[in-house]
Amino acid sequence: MKILLLAHAFNSLAQRLFVALREAGHEVSVELDIADAVTEEAVALWNPEVVIAPFLKRRIPESVWSRRLCLVVHPGPPGDRGPAALDWALLQGRREWGVTVLQAVQDFDAGPVWAWRGFAVPDGLDKASLYRRAVCEAAVPAVMEALARVVPGSAVPAPVAAPALAGLGWQPPVGPGQRAIDWQRQGSAEVLRRIRSADSHPGAQGALFGEPCRLFDAHETTARTRAWVPAFDEAAPGTVLGRRGPGLLVRTRDGAVWIGHVRRDMARTRALGAGDLGDVGGREPATALKLPATRAFAVESAGLPELGVPLHRDDIGGEEEWDELRYLERGPPGARVGWLEFHFHNGALSERQAARLIEALAFARHRDARVLVLAGGPDFFCNGIHLHEIEAAAHAADDSAADASMRHIEAMDDVCLAILQMTDRLTVSVLRGNAGAGGCFLALAADRVWLREGVVLNPHYRNMGNLHGSEYWTYLLPRRAGAEKARSLMRERLPMGARAAVGAGLADEVLVPGDGAAPSALQAFEALAWQRALQLAAAPDIAVQVGAKAARRATDEAARPLAAYRAEELAQMRRNFYGFDPSYHVARHHFVHRKPHARTPRQIALHR
Ligand code: COA
Repeated sequence: MKILLLAHAFNSLAQRLFVALREAGHEVSVELDIADAVTEEAVALWNPEVVIAPFLKRRIPESVWSRRLCLVVHPGPPGDRGPAALDWALLQGRREWGVTVLQAVQDFDAGPVWAWRGFAVPDGLDKASLYRRAVCEAAVPAVMEALARVVPGSAVPAPVAAPALAGLGWQPPVGPGQRAIDWQRQGSAEVLRRIRSADSHPGAQGALFGEPCRLFDAHETTARTRAWVPAFDEAAPGTVLGRRGPGLLVRTRDGAVWIGHVRRDMARTRALGAGDLGDVGGREPATALKLPATRAFAVESAGLPELGVPLHRDDIGGEEEWDELRYLERGPPGARVGWLEFHFHNGALSERQAARLIEALAFARHRDARVLVLAGGPDFFCNGIHLHEIEAAAHAADDSAADASMRHIEAMDDVCLAILQMTDRLTVSVLRGNAGAGGCFLALAADRVWLREGVVLNPHYRNMGNLHGSEYWTYLLPRRAGAEKARSLMRERLPMGARAAVGAGLADEVLVPGDGAAPSALQAFEALAWQRALQLAAAPDIAVQVGAKAARRATDEAARPLAAYRAEELAQMRRNFYGFDPSYHVARHHFVHRKPHARTPRQIALHR
């Protein structure tokens, strides 16, 4: 079928559908929802049999839906309507939720249902994670089922009837007060529920150090953490008690929570001399940056105790302790597997995080494990250098975006180098979540790359203002995919599904768990990846495999040192950062501030 994907942004779900529909043999073009006239033009140019709208913030124009079958993917079960479906699902503590594919009509989410899928809402997920995991997983089969019902040549194919769940209907947007944080009154569970319902957008309104801000990336605390804080019981709700990585520990009415990221109030940002960031007449300023809480409140939090936890937490037992990094180990002596998770918010890697990751890799290297698994985070393996931190540097008196970009890419390269130089064991990148740009090539630095089905990769850089990229990609990509394929991947700049990545040589395997008892697809994949890593560590020829790897590295190094690849890549990056063409700085600024798109990128708009 000829399909037009119409979306506000080419987000995770739109990319996932783009990949899945093309794999299923459909011809897919994309138009970003910029203006009605542009949508009309796209439909006229592409002449699709079906328009699929995975993520819209506005109505599809009547001129389109009245003449063409338009299927909207709504992140709620049949009967649910409105623009804040997942926000309400989390606020109301729903245990079961769903995704519906329905036909666009005059009223929002009121058309006939074509297909739907239900799912269980896992504990502890924020809205964005629920979207990236459960909604994306369920939406793909629901869209496929809806398409299977389209009768070629028939103007109005029969829609399916779907059972409406109880207590659903039109739900308005969530008002800011409906999930504001009141430290005096709310307990930890309520605080977490409110923040998670608003994460990643728009964030829950609250205050830290007496200053209004938006709160994101909230985590539970353990009794152990609370016990570390002197006079914890006497501390007033709202008091910031300690720090860890990006996070601040904040007292609630009945305990405490970690707050990983915040967006500070705009007036305050301006008072701090952040330059002309532009006001928007009483509305929420679009220019406030979401940053790690310890960075946004660097001065206020400087004197707080650092409540670190051991990287290797197998032995401490009890409740799960939140941190960005975690190392686990399993297996019999002589065949052990080390498993390093780096759960960096949104997969972005800052200088601070790169330094921690390098420390963790050094720790892992001293462990007696034959295989080291690099497990990234559950939502994202990695998305490359931290563009928000770089943007923030543009407003600092003693820094610049160009300098911060250079430091970030050097730090990221150091991480890749540490992995490449681990020649005394096998390394495996296990991609539980998506990877983009430098984060993809970080994965490729390992000896093996195993993917979860449904993972989407963006193994290219140029979508970010024509960035050349580093992370030794000029060594890693041709080595895996061949020179020709490497060139076409970089040129085409398209998202790639897990099977296509294996087909192109970027990854070695898609691990597909059988129907088991695991509570979620992610846990089933993790269990299988552990099993496969343990088998690898116990392989009779593991020493031979490690020896062959070390020999290949030595041969490659003799042919062309890694330092030469790095120097050449960084010379190009210097041009991107400091040169006369500001494309990267403009693209980054637009990306971190989520500026609306002015046009659809050519590589996905096949009709243009
Ligand atoms: N630095 C900082 N934040 C990043 C990031 C990065 N490198 N990559 C993604 N994010 C953030 C986004 O700002 C967004 O934040 P928010 O939702 O909290 O506001 C969140 O991660 C999700 O990103 P989004 O773009 O909505 O996800 P997606 O699944 O639609 O797209 C990518 C995934 C990888 C295609 C896209 O995020 C991207 O292009 N990232 C930049 C990659 C890059 O150029 N890195 C630098 C060169 S190494």
